[in-house]
Amino acid sequence: MDLFEYQARDLFEKHGVPVLAGAVATTPEEAEAAARGMGGKVVVKAQVKVGGRGKAGGVKLAEDAQDAREKSAAILGMDIKGHIVGKVMIAQAAPIAEEYYLAILLDRSNRTFLVMASVAGGMDIEQVAHETPEKLVKVPVNSNDGLSKSAAVKIINDAKFPADIADQVADALVLLWGVFVSEDATLVEVNPLVKTSDGRIIALDGKVTLDDNAGFRHPDHEALVDASATNALEAAAKEKDLNYVKLDGEVGIIGNGAGLVMSTLDVVAYAGEQFGGVKPANFLDIGGGASAQVMADGLSIILGDKDVKSVFVNVFGGITSCDAVANGIIQALEILGDKAKKPIVVRLDGNNVLEGRRILDEAAHPLIQQLDTMDGAAARAAELAAK
Ligand SMILES: Nc1ncnc2c1ncn2[C@@H]1O[C@H](COP(=O)(O)OP(=O)(O)OP(=O)(O)O)[C@@H](O)[C@H]1O
Ligand SMILES: [Mg+2]
Repeated sequence: MDLFEYQARDLFEKHGVPVLAGAVATTPEEAEAAARGMGGKVVVKAQVKVGGRGKAGGVKLAEDAQDAREKSAAILGMDIKGHIVGKVMIAQAAPIAEEYYLAILLDRSNRTFLVMASVAGGMDIEQVAHETPEKLVKVPVNSNDGLSKSAAVKIINDAKFPADIADQVADALVLLWGVFVSEDATLVEVNPLVKTSDGRIIALDGKVTLDDNAGFRHPDHEALVDASATNALEAAAKEKDLNYVKLDGEVGIIGNGAGLVMSTLDVVAYAGEQFGGVKPANFLDIGGGASAQVMADGLSIILGDKDVKSVFVNVFGGITSCDAVANGIIQALEILGDKAKKPIVVRLDGNNVLEGRRILDEAAHPLIQQLDTMDGAAARAAELAAK
């Protein structure tokens, strides 16, 4: 999960990283009040989870509280690379002397953590990395060793930070490592880390990505989820512990096993080409043990998607045999009752397939059509969705 800047600022503060006062506002009035509380000049910053806000006009200096209100009115509602600004952060304005760059990230391809540091921070760090890579020092950090103060000092010296602030920057880097480890982040980036005219080091802008796989260790991270951006169907699926991802198409997909579901998406997309470009509407893996309740939960989410025109249930019986799956489907439709209105194409194969098919045939449910092959079923589901 990517965090908003104000959330990153709060985490930094919690772990002792030097930050400025900051408050989040959703209306110009709130922004004015926050700016008044801080006193003096403030910076109004669009809170969107995309880079390049400053260049897009989403970061503006305000002279006083009244000005903060006007600047916020201009920034709230702005479209920055497809992200509509719903919140601004009001931050104290810092007297900036220098802008630096620090980042810690999970380097998947090298199977390690990586620290990056540069004295050429600020809004053009991407260009620096591209055109003058020697100005961006990259040092792997072994997870067992962690980042000691002496290792941080070495990185900061290698990156040629000025001697008068090198020690403060190294301290900040060690604190950021603390954020990275104790919050289970995969990215902690500060750009810019500034030196103020009175020689202080402050993290002015932060980007943090938290590792959702470690969410169980951090009940407090739940509160950081941006509910307004979560797809309602995905939220409902998560509630039911289903592996569901909403996609753009019209054919609802249910399968067991991630690999089978992935290939089902492929065959449906391929078959859909013959029917005007019909596509899969979702990924849904109901896993092993496709009980009636799990099938009902899955079907109810998919049938609740207004984009779905037909459903393709593709199950390969393994540990769970096809007769259990067939009974699960029938019972699921009983549970759903009138809520189930769209045609459902079922393809069963594997363990006890003949009994599974017999059960479905015998039930003769008006919504269910059975096909024996995956390709045939995909084509039928696509055809039904195109109607
Ligand atoms: N509190 C502040 N006081 C003074 N100047 C600031 C403050 N916050 C930001 N700035 C200035 O605005 C510039 C852009 O701000 P910031 O880094 O927060 O946004 P950005 O880099 O454009 O956004 P992103 O990191 O999403 O690309 C900074 O490089 C800095 O010069
Ligand atoms: Mg920035």
